[in-house]
Amino acid sequence: FFQAAASPPTSNFLLLGPSGSGKTALTTLLEAKSSPLSKKTHTTHTSQTSTLVSVSLPPTVPTASNRYRSVNDPSLKEAQRNPIRYRVKDTPGHGKLRTTQGIAQLQSMSVAKDAAHKLRGVIFMVDTAALVDEAVLRDTASYLHDVLLVLQKRELNKSSSKRLSEIPVLVAANKQDLFTALPPGSVKEKLEAEIDRIRKSKTKGLLDASADPGLDNDEDVLGNDDAQGTFSFNLLQVEAGIKVDVVGGAVKDDPAEEFGSGVRRWEEWVGMCL
Ligand code: GTP
Ligand code: MG
Repeated sequence: FFQAAASPPTSNFLLLGPSGSGKTALTTLLEAKSSPLSKKTHTTHTSQTSTLVSVSLPPTVPTASNRYRSVNDPSLKEAQRNPIRYRVKDTPGHGKLRTTQGIAQLQSMSVAKDAAHKLRGVIFMVDTAALVDEAVLRDTASYLHDVLLVLQKRELNKSSSKRLSEIPVLVAANKQDLFTALPPGSVKEKLEAEIDRIRKSKTKGLLDASADPGLDNDEDVLGNDDAQGTFSFNLLQVEAGIKVDVVGGAVKDDPAEEFGSGVRRWEEWVGMCL
């Protein structure tokens, strides 16, 4: 049979988040959705290395450039023949591997200017059933805090001549199929409150250390540096220009629904970045 030549995949998304949140499961699902003929069954187990996969956006998912397209639009047919492709980099979430893998990838990809390596967005996966556990919440929030701090530093260091585009963050509130899962709204509140605690204790630490001259505090605190107000993703967008969306979903299929439909709203978020 003939397969239409796919457009070269040049839009990169980085998949971050703690161990067990479902990053590899998502990567595998997106691959299976992209090529239904070769349903790969990756074994999900704790990842130790990063992998880059090329996947395609379902033709019915709108992109930023065709969001007003109607179902009768001939470009929909074209999209069916020649789907938009993008790349997802799955990273290991284990605490010991974050600095050398996820954060390091974020640091290098977020400043890349060539189309092949440029980063379009960050998908930060969260296990919403595990978040009721205080230790998991703390661990998840501290990883997200570090991710947002990298992006904030990037914004602050951005010189007007360089013209780096924005990198939005999707907090993929995964495992909504489980009845113990927290709804996305409360995931957002919990993460904001925990990040607020983290940045307040960091600010205090920096103040205590401020006897040390030459220590540049400003860059190391997320959001406004007085840390008086309460942290929120909204505040981060206003003050640092970083957009964070928390969207619920599930990699695990609801048998009553279409294959892979639990990730539809994340694909829509991806579409709006393209
Ligand atoms: P690391 O590689 O260690 O960073 O973890 P990971 O984020 O890649 O997690 P992985 O994809 O291996 O998923 C961990 C477990 O969660 C697996 O047993 C998955 O089957 C399960 N899982 C992933 N997504 C869902 C979901 O939406 N619902 C349910 N119930 N389980 C899920
Ligand atoms: Mg994994």
